[in-house]
Amino acid sequence: MASSTNRQILLKSRPQGAPSLDNFELTEAPIPKPGEGELLMRTRYLSLDPYMRGRMSDAKSYAKPAAVGAPMVGGTVGEVVTSRHPNYAAGDIVLGYGGWQDYALSSGAGLRKLDPAAAPVSTALGVLGMPGMTAYVGLLEIGQPKPGETVVVAAASGAVGSVVGQIAKIKGCRAVGIAGGAEKCRFVIGELGFDACVDHRAADFARQLEATCPKGIDVYFENVGGAVQQTVWPLLNDFARIPVCGLIAQYNAATPMPGPDMFSVLRKRLLLRGFIVSDFAAKQGDFLRDVGEWMRSGRLKYREDVVEGLEQAPAAFLGLLQGKNFGKLLVRVSK
Ligand SMILES: NC(=O)c1ccc[n+]([C@@H]2O[C@H](COP(=O)([O-])OP(=O)(O)OC[C@H]3O[C@@H](n4cnc5c(N)ncnc54)[C@H](OP(=O)(O)O)[C@@H]3O)[C@@H](O)[C@H]2O)c1
Repeated sequence: MASSTNRQILLKSRPQGAPSLDNFELTEAPIPKPGEGELLMRTRYLSLDPYMRGRMSDAKSYAKPAAVGAPMVGGTVGEVVTSRHPNYAAGDIVLGYGGWQDYALSSGAGLRKLDPAAAPVSTALGVLGMPGMTAYVGLLEIGQPKPGETVVVAAASGAVGSVVGQIAKIKGCRAVGIAGGAEKCRFVIGELGFDACVDHRAADFARQLEATCPKGIDVYFENVGGAVQQTVWPLLNDFARIPVCGLIAQYNAATPMPGPDMFSVLRKRLLLRGFIVSDFAAKQGDFLRDVGEWMRSGRLKYREDVVEGLEQAPAAFLGLLQGKNFGKLLVRVSK
């Protein structure tokens, strides 16, 4: 049922350290009306992603912080309800950046029409969207995996990590995941087809990881930083590549955490390169072609963790920072 008002979740205050529910506020506003050249989207799915922790803070970053008192920012899949834009009509399903709210206006900039017959529309926020593309470009462009090499990725059951390991397998590598808990590890091996997965919460995590990588690590796709990074680092082979994608274990840290041993960067001739998925925007066509084909042929699988109702978004987002999600985290805002 369409709501008669626009429920919005605002950023109420900026967190110091770990965010809490008090940093968010649910409010209601009138549904906006599109002006000339604009359209109104009704949100179906809201994507919850780790980068949102960065937007809650006003620390210097590659992107502008979310404004206090404004709806939280976020990628959305929505249905066009009213259009005064020449390229869009009511009923179109679009990938956009509507934020944490029921309805959003758009000028059409950055919007992409989706074909619901091609793939479930929610995948445009996950495996066929920003997280999938992050895995694809980070692994292939920076990781440069070669057949027979060992590729290690943490948050392996998540949106990015799950795709990293599966592409590593497609490229003939040994894929080793790191995940929080036995159930996630079972899924990573049994469903996603990784060669192995180690639980970073296990007391003997370091011993298990070393035993699982007998030939060392050639590509470490860095998703988490923190204690996992410290454990991986000594296992890196000479000339290992490290696409530095994310450091989720450190996003709530109030003071900088100790970094890796830079002496081994020199001694082992490591290649570390940080990246933001948009650096590789020109690869989007290759990404959609390859990952779309791997999905259709059953070589690449995905899992979604769908939470019901916009009002659940803050709690679900807090859970993401603690590993409570199991797969790409989405909020179903409307049916
Ligand atoms: N550079 C870019 O352009 C770009 C784009 C997209 C995403 N990213 C980054 O990629 C990473 C993964 O993102 P995602 O969207 O795929 O999220 P996700 O894996 O679906 O969810 C986050 C996962 O991180 C793990 N985690 C949380 N705290 C942790 C900790 N202290 N130590 C170890 N693991 C922890 C948890 O998995 P477990 O329960 O398995 O530990 C949690 O489920 C994030 O760092 C994100 O910021 C970067």
